[in-house]
Amino acid sequence: EAETTLSITVVGASGDLARKKIFPALFALFYEDFLPENFIVFGYARTKMTDEELRNMISTTLTCRVDKRENCADKMEQFLMKCYYHSGQYSSEDDFAKLDCKLKEKEGGSLSNRLFYLSIPPNIFVDAVKCASNKASSVSGWTRVIVEKPFGRDSESSRELTRCLMQYLSEDQIFRIDHYLGKELVENLSVLRFSNLVFEPLWSRNYIRNVQFIFSEDFGTEGRGGYFDNYGIIRDIMQNHLLQILALFAMETPVSLDAEDIRNEKVKVLRSMRPLQLEDVIVGQYKGHSKGGKSYPGYIDDPTVPKDSVTPTFAAAALFINNSRWDGVPFLMKAGKALHIRKTEIRVQFRHVPGNLYKWNFGTDLDKATNELVLRLQPDEAIYLKINNKVPGLGMRLDRSDLNLLYSARYRREIPDAYERLLLDAIGGERRLFIRSDELDAAWALFSPLLKELEEKKIAPELYPYGSRGPVGAYYLAAKHDVRWGDLAGED
Ligand code: BG6
Repeated sequence: EAETTLSITVVGASGDLARKKIFPALFALFYEDFLPENFIVFGYARTKMTDEELRNMISTTLTCRVDKRENCADKMEQFLMKCYYHSGQYSSEDDFAKLDCKLKEKEGGSLSNRLFYLSIPPNIFVDAVKCASNKASSVSGWTRVIVEKPFGRDSESSRELTRCLMQYLSEDQIFRIDHYLGKELVENLSVLRFSNLVFEPLWSRNYIRNVQFIFSEDFGTEGRGGYFDNYGIIRDIMQNHLLQILALFAMETPVSLDAEDIRNEKVKVLRSMRPLQLEDVIVGQYKGHSKGGKSYPGYIDDPTVPKDSVTPTFAAAALFINNSRWDGVPFLMKAGKALHIRKTEIRVQFRHVPGNLYKWNFGTDLDKATNELVLRLQPDEAIYLKINNKVPGLGMRLDRSDLNLLYSARYRREIPDAYERLLLDAIGGERRLFIRSDELDAAWALFSPLLKELEEKKIAPELYPYGSRGPVGAYYLAAKHDVRWGDLAGED
């Protein structure tokens, strides 16, 4: 049987994402023996570089797992020897044809499967796909292309992008990445719900009062202002990362764990939601701030951002799913840059216990007695459930305590980066964690009218100081739906 070679080409090899995420993830897969015996990695970009220079560049970002440091240097060396570089224009078929020659030479006449990772700006996606597909497709095996967001900036441009990609690729060759789907706790969400009797029966409007998806970063858009200003936080985080998690959270039980079964259910959730309206959101933008003798720049202080930009760096939104499971349950999202903390979590707030025997313990604020399930995606992955518990002693006093599954205490191993899982899946042809084109369409349909209105009316964002908890408008939006943000409860 002829040997098969896996050739991975990272298009945009000198970019940030490639250096920080893709090469290190490929190395981690190699290190853990997840890559086939015969594989090669090509970096492709415009910069002139030798193989050696690419290797030097990559080597600074590779790391070994903390718990498996033996052979680290040897393994890095072996990996780097499989990495090559080819310099070319992204829209030149000739340059891709030359890449094809080099790939063939390294593949040594064996069967080959080819994976292209497009880590390049959206305006050159289609050109690069065209060239790669026309000139550097595998003739003996599969050719797959991983694309990164942004997938357009509204329904129309996204559909146009899909249409253009489809001229050169079939849907099953396209792997639209949303790296949040590769995160450990997002993978675990379905396990938690579908394989624990104590959760699945509670997963509906009967017991759940609201669900919150909270993304917060403690740094601004420093250095990315040029990209960011054209997109804003709603497109950068909500329409993809948070919405994907919401769909997974809320979907009906899929027929099986097959990619199509899961994506069918996710798309149903998205299509059951009402497109967002202005009154469902509030937007914010961070302003400069000094603290402890240090000053932090505002969003518009970035030289690549126009001084009069109204692009939101923070947004909160209330969404509703109009189906029998979730009718009336607010799904709240909050996403922001330059806030006081870096954290992403899902918070599920449960209803009051009817006729609670112990309600005297909570005074007038019965909300203090509700259970809350929290999945902390990062940092410090954890799942905890807030319960009411008797404080030990002769009297009868209750407090809120956590049943806490802290990953670092339970599992003594490093959690793989999301990109490792997603690359491994793309290599294996597993599509479960990638976005299907109808899902993408449905996701845009929810946000496009709102984005258009925000931009046409130039809605001014509420300013919040760099490093703060964000605009107070988020609090009012939640209150309108009788919700309190769990992360502001002051308990954790
Ligand atoms: C990216 C966004 O998709 O996700 C960035 O474009 C954001 O703005 C990043 O910082 C966050 O990813 P992570 O994995 O660091 O939470």
